[in-house]
Amino acid sequence: MPNVALVGTQWGDEGKGKIVDWLAERFDVIARYQGGNNAGHTVIHDGVKQVLHLVPSGILRPGKECVIGNGVVVDPEALFKEIDRLQEQGVETLGRLWVSDRAHLILPYHHGIELGSEKRRGKDAIGTTSRGIGPAYQDKMGRSGIRAIDCIDRDVLAAKIASNLDVVNDLMRHLYDREPFVADEIVEQYAHWGERLKPYLADTSLRLDTAIRAGRNVLFEGAQGTHLDVDHGTYPFVTSSNATSGGVSSGLGVGPNRVDGVLGVTKAYTTRVGSGPMPTQLDDEIGQKLRDVGQEYGATTGRPRRCGWFDAVAARYAVRVNGCDVFVVTKLDVLDGIDPLRICVAYEVDGVRHEEMPANLTSAKEIVPIYEDCPGWKGSVIGARTIDEFPEEAKAYLRRIEEVSGCSVGMASNGAEREAIVQLPGGPLDDLVP
Ligand code: IMP
Repeated sequence: MPNVALVGTQWGDEGKGKIVDWLAERFDVIARYQGGNNAGHTVIHDGVKQVLHLVPSGILRPGKECVIGNGVVVDPEALFKEIDRLQEQGVETLGRLWVSDRAHLILPYHHGIELGSEKRRGKDAIGTTSRGIGPAYQDKMGRSGIRAIDCIDRDVLAAKIASNLDVVNDLMRHLYDREPFVADEIVEQYAHWGERLKPYLADTSLRLDTAIRAGRNVLFEGAQGTHLDVDHGTYPFVTSSNATSGGVSSGLGVGPNRVDGVLGVTKAYTTRVGSGPMPTQLDDEIGQKLRDVGQEYGATTGRPRRCGWFDAVAARYAVRVNGCDVFVVTKLDVLDGIDPLRICVAYEVDGVRHEEMPANLTSAKEIVPIYEDCPGWKGSVIGARTIDEFPEEAKAYLRRIEEVSGCSVGMASNGAEREAIVQLPGGPLDDLVP
């Protein structure tokens, strides 16, 4: 049975939540491998909107097992806020949701460090989600992180927090001009979270291995997107983890040969939230229309997203670094009535033409997107349930996305509701989705 990774091919917010929700019905286990509660996965069912930040969207499908892997950074307060809300809505999490005992935790001082460092960066600030993500990964890589297993043992927790605060409080006092943190308060708080976390903790690599060996299929749920990946994204305007499919193996403790296929989720246009280059950004009425019709406001921070045309250079790169087998194109309905549509096929960066994503995008003085036009469609794609019901121009737009990205389109989403999905049969998706 196939195990499939689902990744964002742009700058996050591709609409992965809805696609994971759709796929979750067809998979047994849904596992997150990176990021934290900086993500915001929106699912709309029966008119009710659910936004999940940390718990895999699969939790909304009864009977499915969900995993938060070792590669995720967990803010216990955010996790339990989400768990409590789900429980109130009758969604059981105990015995269905497993958190890796090796996952690193976000601590209160990570928020302090992030606020301090973003402020010091001034105009070069990353524009983070202020969830403490970067500093938590910094501690992990710097080997001073605190893992979920550590807060089960109060002595271990106290020793680690005391040692970390030695350095952190110096930073607070002398560099960031902020109040120092009190060790006992954090120990108290995290020992409490430890108690609550205990029944959720597991060696999730082992659980996944057992599931895979038993023939159950696993969906690896990515957060953020390719161009926010710390290695492959528009560095330094990225998040601090590997959002690309390569992160599955290290972030969950499963061998790369366990990933049978990669599904890339791509919006029919482009959005970005936070700082950093976005070559196809539109600061005109079309950009505003995309924002209004697409309700392009951050699911986590509420910030307005920057909007623009579909970027095939970014898409091609995503196909390559993730090994995408198939694309799922989301929010096609947002393009209803826009004519012509434009697709960026190359960039001119400081006078040099690039067909492939250059590494110097963030330091470039001038980026000029090279566009080709595609006819828009009259009428609407909303309500269609088969590809034959799409206007010819919408079909042609999807075909052009395939051609310029080098990846076959297997599905298109044409509305916010769970049911608003059109499959394009006959492609690689048929072999990947049980
Ligand atoms: P951080 O992940 O909070 O450190 O933020 C780093 C960059 O990634 C910022 O530009 C954020 O706006 C962006 N970012 C982080 N998570 C998401 C997401 O889930 N969707 C879109 N952008 C995100």
